[in-house]
Amino acid sequence: MKKRWVLKSFVAAAVLTTSGLALAQSNTFKIGLILPMTGPFASTGKQIEAAARLYMAQNGDTVAGQKVELIVKDDTSAPDVTKRIAQELVVNDKVNVLAGFGLTPLALATAPIATQSKTPMVVMAAATSSITQASPYVIRTSFTLPQAAVTLGDWAPKNGLKKVVTLVADYGPGIDAEKYFKERFVLNGGQVPESLRVPMRNPDFAPFLQKVRDIKPDALYVFLPSGVGAALMKQFAERGLDKAGIKLIGTGDITDDDILNGMGDVALGVVTTQHYSASHNSAVNKKFVAAFEKANAGMRPNFMAVGGYDGMRVIYEAAKKTKGGSGDALLEAMKGQLFESPRGPMFIDAQTRDVVHNIYIRKVEKVNGELYNQEFDVIKDVKDPGKSK
Ligand code: PHB
Repeated sequence: MKKRWVLKSFVAAAVLTTSGLALAQSNTFKIGLILPMTGPFASTGKQIEAAARLYMAQNGDTVAGQKVELIVKDDTSAPDVTKRIAQELVVNDKVNVLAGFGLTPLALATAPIATQSKTPMVVMAAATSSITQASPYVIRTSFTLPQAAVTLGDWAPKNGLKKVVTLVADYGPGIDAEKYFKERFVLNGGQVPESLRVPMRNPDFAPFLQKVRDIKPDALYVFLPSGVGAALMKQFAERGLDKAGIKLIGTGDITDDDILNGMGDVALGVVTTQHYSASHNSAVNKKFVAAFEKANAGMRPNFMAVGGYDGMRVIYEAAKKTKGGSGDALLEAMKGQLFESPRGPMFIDAQTRDVVHNIYIRKVEKVNGELYNQEFDVIKDVKDPGKSK
């Protein structure tokens, strides 16, 4: 008798706990934000986390009557770790959305988890064109390398650069940056005598730069992931490539706002193409930069921060529209969003789930004693050229 009573109350307690849990869950909208917070790509994680927290501070931590919970996890930029964390976030925490993804291999490792669990996956940093094709649950708020690369491939030959050597990090975004620049540049009559690829982690630029010096092209075109550009810039000057009359051009990743000001005068005049500069001249951006700098002393927002900030916007609006939904409904509400970002106008193409935005041509200049990427021309509404192939 007693045994049965104990069993009964145990079951009742279990039911209560479960329904209590279900209640707690339905009152919380969970965002699992997976980022490299330590190691060589920690600046990406720090920028995105700071931007996500800023968005929440400005827009409140409730949507559609649900409390928004941001769960930040450090994947140390190891793909197997990203994947394991994503799995735990989906199974144990029951997150509504996965977000972050500081590097292409981290996004690609996680895409199958998003597909299997039908969890929207908002890519805020990684930028290889093919990532959106890795899962129908991927939505991208960062950018793609081909967008910046073709724009520079059009600009360079019109501006006296006919012979260009390329140097890229040897993995997804670098290969995209090389391929799309080269194709467009050659189509426009340019010549690429050599294409160099350096390791993604801890590259030693010395032997590569020596080769460039020997070839003596009009310019060296570079893609390196955010955070690595300063080392290249330093060695470019130390080896006298600038004095030899070789110009440095590249995608905006090499003159990243996070570290640009510390590069010194060697960065002056470097022309890059990208979707975001902290000095973008709009009211929305001025407000964003001021609020970011106020909340994070000593930090200037870079393109990673903007990918995170806009990603939070896409998540919040979709959560509002679906009243705190998840799965396919939440994913559908993310598609087709059109809004003004600190980068300028931005659109999530419903067909490709990829970002469409302006690509700016910029030159590093000193403004009130600080180095900035000053935008001087714009190509509007650039879709990912990788999607039309
Ligand atoms: C990437 O791994 O996709 C990536 C990382 C950093 C960048 C650009 C692309 O600056």
